[in-house]
Amino acid sequence: MTKVLFSNQLPSKIVSRAFLQELANFVLENEKQSQSGSLSVALVGKEEIRKLKREFFGEDRYTDVISFNYGLTEKDSIWGEIVISLPVAEEQARERNIPVKEEVSYLFIHGLLHLLGYEDSDPESKKVMTERAKSLLAEFGKFQARKSLIKKAEKARALAYAPYSRFQVGAAIAGREGEVFTGCNIENASFGLTVCAERVALWKGVSAGVRDFSRIAIISTSSQLCLPCGACRQVLYQFSPGIEVVATRVDGSYQCFSLKELFAFPFTLSSEEE
Ligand code: THU
Repeated sequence: MTKVLFSNQLPSKIVSRAFLQELANFVLENEKQSQSGSLSVALVGKEEIRKLKREFFGEDRYTDVISFNYGLTEKDSIWGEIVISLPVAEEQARERNIPVKEEVSYLFIHGLLHLLGYEDSDPESKKVMTERAKSLLAEFGKFQARKSLIKKAEKARALAYAPYSRFQVGAAIAGREGEVFTGCNIENASFGLTVCAERVALWKGVSAGVRDFSRIAIISTSSQLCLPCGACRQVLYQFSPGIEVVATRVDGSYQCFSLKELFAFPFTLSSEEE
């Protein structure tokens, strides 16, 4: 596995080493590359990157990212370096009206793809590379959102009231605007009155005024994927037929499903049929 190193002091408020490590792992895994050794990252000023561009590429201009491939050498050595100009990234983020962290992430992916052999010297390969970088950034966003939802579901599971089944479940559901509601299963001496974690989470959201949900993560203490029961599928379908279900095992590994595939033929009142 590649270890990400910082070769200068970064303003950690924008992007931490741990964040870039996760991003590098994600890109390398998706590109089916497993590099040992280290990847060095430097965030530099405008004049510094201009100097590097002039020195190594003979072009006297500001740029946003430069990468250097040092090739595969000994196990613990640095095989590549990515230099990003933070002020340039900030300007570009402002122009594109996106957070600086997103722009830096994009530039990091772009630099890393160069190190993995992608080129952008002609329009055709540039198109391929840009599309790949964009799709990796979008997928990484989803990956992070899923991880964060799973963490919240895990926390909610600790509050499960399951004295009868001893099967503890936690769920976390995200609204379209990003707000998250959590739930745990709540059992009753009259067994049939038990409510699943998913419905508790969903009802908390609906009762807070949210009706459109993008994703739900579910986790129990089992090594099997925790999938919603039929009743919960029906209830989820009522509000968000397109919701993504992140069924998680106790170790945090997961599989994603669309509710449509889990619940292909829902019950609807004929007046509601599409
Ligand atoms: N349970 C959930 O909370 N969610 C599911 O998806 C399946 C089952 C709960 C209900 C009950 O408290 C216990 O797990 C055993 O069925």
